[in-house]
Amino acid sequence: MDTAASRPSLHPLPDRIIPGQPPTALAPMQDITGHSFMHLLAICGAPDYYITEYYRVHDSSRLDVDIRRCICENTTGRPIIAQIIGEDPVHIRRAARELAPLPIAGIDLNLGCPAPKVFRKNVGGGLLRDPARVNEILAVLREESPGTLSVKMRYGFEDDSNFDTFLEIIDRHNVDLVSLHARTVRQLYRGQPDYSYITRAAKALRCPVLANGDIGSCEKAARVLKETGAFGAMIGRPAVRNPWIFRQCREHFAGLSVFKPTLADVREYVDRLWEVTDEKGLSDDKHIPRMKKLLNFIALGVDEEGAFLRAMRLTQTKSELMNLCDECLLENGNADKLFAPDAHAHLIARPNHEGPEKQTCE
Ligand SMILES: Cc1cc2nc3c(=O)[nH]c(=O)nc-3n(C[C@H](O)[C@H](O)[C@H](O)COP(=O)(O)O)c2cc1C
Repeated sequence: MDTAASRPSLHPLPDRIIPGQPPTALAPMQDITGHSFMHLLAICGAPDYYITEYYRVHDSSRLDVDIRRCICENTTGRPIIAQIIGEDPVHIRRAARELAPLPIAGIDLNLGCPAPKVFRKNVGGGLLRDPARVNEILAVLREESPGTLSVKMRYGFEDDSNFDTFLEIIDRHNVDLVSLHARTVRQLYRGQPDYSYITRAAKALRCPVLANGDIGSCEKAARVLKETGAFGAMIGRPAVRNPWIFRQCREHFAGLSVFKPTLADVREYVDRLWEVTDEKGLSDDKHIPRMKKLLNFIALGVDEEGAFLRAMRLTQTKSELMNLCDECLLENGNADKLFAPDAHAHLIARPNHEGPEKQTCE
């Protein structure tokens, strides 16, 4: 049988964190960045840190099996931080104790999820309206977290009126790492990120700051880090489009020549993604929407006209989808064409229009 292990590799890069280089992290993405996807990225060139999808903490919560697997079967060679989302310090303390014996590098508090069903319960991005509650939660997490305590946040809920207060709270509790998505909760994923907030956080905080939001290429990562003084870059959707982005960052930061994937490499990546998204033995009618969700991002770098993006959305079966991928990524002289280093700006991914997935942080 043709398995991932028996096929040619996706241009693996030997594991190496280069001392003095800005680190990179994979942004957590619910229903995408599970164990298999993390492992796939590690083959293409792992980021320096991983953060799990969020663990929703409430009165009867227990760590779910997929997140536990990410942590306990981490074969990426990189540290993994467990993300939690919740509003009640008592339950958060219990969750921190539940996580403590596991092989995690630390705990991350989600202060950014913009999904209305989440923020209406005053969790995730909703907590950005309640500095006093965040103060209490961070006090508990600091007491319970001997390892890294990190916070992943946006710069505000509606606006930046609480931003300085949150920076003070974060500093007061000796948080070890902050990842800042440079948008408000209300912005969702729209509009340009405002990186000036990352500059402000990097200046105000004693801990390192990871810049996050639309860092679509290694050149952009270098530009944003230079402009903001951030310690490193956290990358989410662009890593789904281009799984070699962390390797490219490392090469670019070191002044080496940067790996340039071809459309044939992308075709191979699509096959691997099919396997990654198949882990629960899904039927085609559930599997295809899941693949299309990811292909929405990949298609942004295939052709400038968006022909692959449009045609991909119309496919209904595995053979239609894979034949289209062969046609657009391998045949007609396409195999040797270079995959665009950044998304074509005028094309729009609509991953949530692809099927009845559960509502996520998106
Ligand atoms: C589908 C999806 C799911 C996400 N799930 C999470 C999550 O579980 N926890 C979290 O902190 N952020 C989550 N995010 C936000 C990302 O981590 C990241 O902050 C955001 O996508 C901006 O970065 P990017 O432009 O590099 O994608 C999610 C984003 C997407 C698109």
